[in-house]
Amino acid sequence: MPLPDPALVVLVGASGSGKSTWAASRYRVDEIVSSDALRGVVGSGEHDLDASADAFAMLEQVVAARLGRRLTTVVDTLGTDATRRRAWREAARAAGLPAVAVVLDTPAAVCRSRNSRRDRPVPARILTSQLAAVTATVEILAAEGWQVVRVAPELSRPGEVAEVGPSATAATPATAPTAAGASRLRGVVLQLSSFPADGDLLGWLRDMAAAGEEAGLAGLALMDHLIQIPQVGRAWDPIPEPWVTLGALAASTTRLQLGTLVTPVTFRAPGITAKAAATLSALSGGRAFVGVGAGWWEREHAAYGLGFPSARVRLDAMEQGIETMKALWAPGTKAYVGQRVSLPETTSYPRPATEIPVLVGGGGDRTLGIAARLGDGCNVPSDEVGLAKVARYLTLVELAGRDPSTVHATVLDLPLVGRDRDDVWSRVERHRGRTAAATFAARHHAGTANEHAARLAGLAGQGVTTVFVAPVGLDRPEDVLALAPLTSTFG
Ligand code: CTP
Ligand code: MG
Repeated sequence: MPLPDPALVVLVGASGSGKSTWAASRYRVDEIVSSDALRGVVGSGEHDLDASADAFAMLEQVVAARLGRRLTTVVDTLGTDATRRRAWREAARAAGLPAVAVVLDTPAAVCRSRNSRRDRPVPARILTSQLAAVTATVEILAAEGWQVVRVAPELSRPGEVAEVGPSATAATPATAPTAAGASRLRGVVLQLSSFPADGDLLGWLRDMAAAGEEAGLAGLALMDHLIQIPQVGRAWDPIPEPWVTLGALAASTTRLQLGTLVTPVTFRAPGITAKAAATLSALSGGRAFVGVGAGWWEREHAAYGLGFPSARVRLDAMEQGIETMKALWAPGTKAYVGQRVSLPETTSYPRPATEIPVLVGGGGDRTLGIAARLGDGCNVPSDEVGLAKVARYLTLVELAGRDPSTVHATVLDLPLVGRDRDDVWSRVERHRGRTAAATFAARHHAGTANEHAARLAGLAGQGVTTVFVAPVGLDRPEDVLALAPLTSTFG
């Protein structure tokens, strides 16, 4: 069972039980508050018992400060002082953090033998009283309100602690239904949203896409914006036109599905988008998809001389747009007379090499309805609200008399992915701006690729077929390769 994170983690164990070793193998140095280490800071060394009072005063200050910021805090003391434990638990509760007591279940004989081999062993009678205090503490931890986690001696051995870590690899694989024709886009699709400001853009795109194919991604998506959006970067950061860029990517890839997330109906007449997507499909051997949305950013419309009508009018246009694209992609050249659109002919060549899925971005009621009736998929955020919308969307699909196993229930996820815990938190510091570290980390599920893989497996269990990931700070092919564990979740 993975430990909650962020959390207050209080270690409980006698000298030599392996507390510090266990903590060091799972947590960053700065997350561990150790009375021994603080004796070394305020006193002459770890064993300077005269410095205990000062060391504990500092320990309490550090614990309070970290918990107040909702940062994971591992308290490395014997853990047998009930008064201190209560204060820590209350501070954790006040911060809304779970309180976990990690008990090192190391046999007394092992503690004694490790102790005797140390440079400065604890006197035998003290170790005996520690062991008794630990036994007494363990009996009351659950009643005190701790989530108790016991670390078996063999698991506390350095190098094998991963067994008590996140059970990412044991996560259940995706069980989402698949259907022929709707399966190509299933999996993890990388959304590229920021681009290098100078240098070789085409070379960079090729390298990123090649890494994506190597990592086993299902596809690559580009935002469709005219000015870089404030959520991602600065207005003067480059954002290339997506259909042109996807054409270049078609030439340098062989497996990735390619499309936009999402194209606002306000940018181009839908027939022109249909033409671009059909061309991309023909160029790529049928790897094109189209994300459509109603558009939301007035500024880019004004700057480029485009109209930005009311939401109602934009949603009307989206309905008409989807109908127009599907009419133009259908076989033949006959006239099309639909509910909202009529075309005198539907002559459009080259034809798409395979069916082009249309994903409708946005979570409003009307948008989800349009996605369910006219589109081939939805796209909503990966948070709790978004997941409720996935469920709603799948219900609407059924109500529309369609088979839910043939549609794409997609979410947009903005993970922060690091190699290990140290790398994760240095990335949090680098990218958090003025947002509190704990808030930023939670928003982006900051963690290792294996931790994200386990989380994505959970999304699959809730009906999600495709996760579009736009990782925080992704700018090198190595960052794309690091996503490989995520793809196995949906693989
Ligand atoms: N050790 C070990 N195998 C383990 C855990 C620890 O061989 N599975 C060794 C460590 O290398 C160290 C000693 O046992 O030499 C004590 O481990 P440590 O983690 O320092 O124990 P603590 O519980 O932190 O002891 P103390 O309370 O004295 O700090
Ligand atoms: Mg220790």
